[in-house]
Amino acid sequence: MPKLVSCSARGLKGDVRVPGDKSISHRALILGGLATGETTVEGLLEGEDVLATAKAMTRYGAHLARDDTGLWRIRGIGVGGLAEPEDVIDMGNSGTGVRLLMGLAATHPVMSVFTGDESLRRRPMARVARPLESMGAQILTRPGGRLPATVVGTGEALPITYQMPVASAQVKSAILLAGLNTAGRTTVIEPAPSRDHTERMLAHFGCAVHVGEQDGKRTVSVNGYPTLRPQSMVVPGDPSSAAFLVVAALITPDSELTIRGVGLNPLRTGLFDTLIEMGADLTMTNRRDAAGEPVGDLVVRSSALRGVDVPPERAPSMIDEYPILAVAAAVAEGTTRMTGLAELRVKESDRIAAMARGLEACGAGVEELEDGLAVSGSAAVPGGATVTTHLDHRIAMSFLVLGLASTAPVAIDDDAMINTSFPGFAALLNGVGGRIR
Ligand code: S3P
Repeated sequence: MPKLVSCSARGLKGDVRVPGDKSISHRALILGGLATGETTVEGLLEGEDVLATAKAMTRYGAHLARDDTGLWRIRGIGVGGLAEPEDVIDMGNSGTGVRLLMGLAATHPVMSVFTGDESLRRRPMARVARPLESMGAQILTRPGGRLPATVVGTGEALPITYQMPVASAQVKSAILLAGLNTAGRTTVIEPAPSRDHTERMLAHFGCAVHVGEQDGKRTVSVNGYPTLRPQSMVVPGDPSSAAFLVVAALITPDSELTIRGVGLNPLRTGLFDTLIEMGADLTMTNRRDAAGEPVGDLVVRSSALRGVDVPPERAPSMIDEYPILAVAAAVAEGTTRMTGLAELRVKESDRIAAMARGLEACGAGVEELEDGLAVSGSAAVPGGATVTTHLDHRIAMSFLVLGLASTAPVAIDDDAMINTSFPGFAALLNGVGGRIR
């Protein structure tokens, strides 16, 4: 039985906000939980992934409370202050949550056992386990570096300089968080710059973060035992959530949407640059700063899109946006090639395969490449299929957006995972004229 069905629409119109940024929300809870004193967070994403991190921080001894207005108050325990969790920590669907917390736990003398849902238990954890072991933690995983994992943290961690094999903000952040409770200087060297929310937020909490360059690569270092000063934070809207509304407006005729207060960190906005290259009428206005992060408003109108080649080096700045880009590409004139995306095979699902199968089912022209997709667009995608979402929120939302612009409705087999990152997605889209039932 399909869970949600999306039907052809016209004229999406409105002035809206999207829920808070997922990456920033996880980090706000973790750094707030490590600060000395009370941090307040407004606009926190209350999706399942972030709530799993909130629960985990409580298990580590931080006090978190939400008031009726949606403001979160976090009483931190100080760097080094983690208590041992009394039970297994279930991180649900959240790769970011589990990897960041493995880093944090690795350099505290506590034992943690992490697990997650069926999707998370398939994802690779060796990428964080290996460097954390070299700092002195003992980490046991199932074969292939899979969860459940037991992390026996050390109270006497050694600082490392770690050359990361993949451009991953989760790996970088895990090591930097581990470095907070480690004597001396911990450094990561990135193969390509990945989202820098951890660095920005650490600096905002008063921790000295050194960003440098070595052999043309970005390096980030922290010195151990900083005192994090509590903050009052406002989380910007998630550009990765705004992405679905932006593409919905672009491909639905007669649409004009304004999306306010969206995070515009340049390491996150690769999709918007790509859409503009494809001919999108998309502008970013009213740029400002919120707690060290650039924020602005998006104005987007229906546009005739053309296919482009997306440079592989842009991938880290739009890594979560390829599913929705593939939808835009399916209705663009010509072919869009996206490559350099091997990482997409180890996200919440194998997103290359999931998009290829889903687009095929909807009658769109798509070729699955080893490290990407080539999508040949046509003004009228037939639709008329039920797409398998593989426990992946972004696959689910992408195909609901495609249904707005396809000839016959597009259904998805499961919508539950949308709550991990974008609670209220269908209602928000329907509120501006979408037809999701
Ligand atoms: C994230 C980093 C990215 C991204 C994920 C969120 C983060 O993952 O895909 O949705 O908050 O650090 P990788 O670090 O695996 O690239």
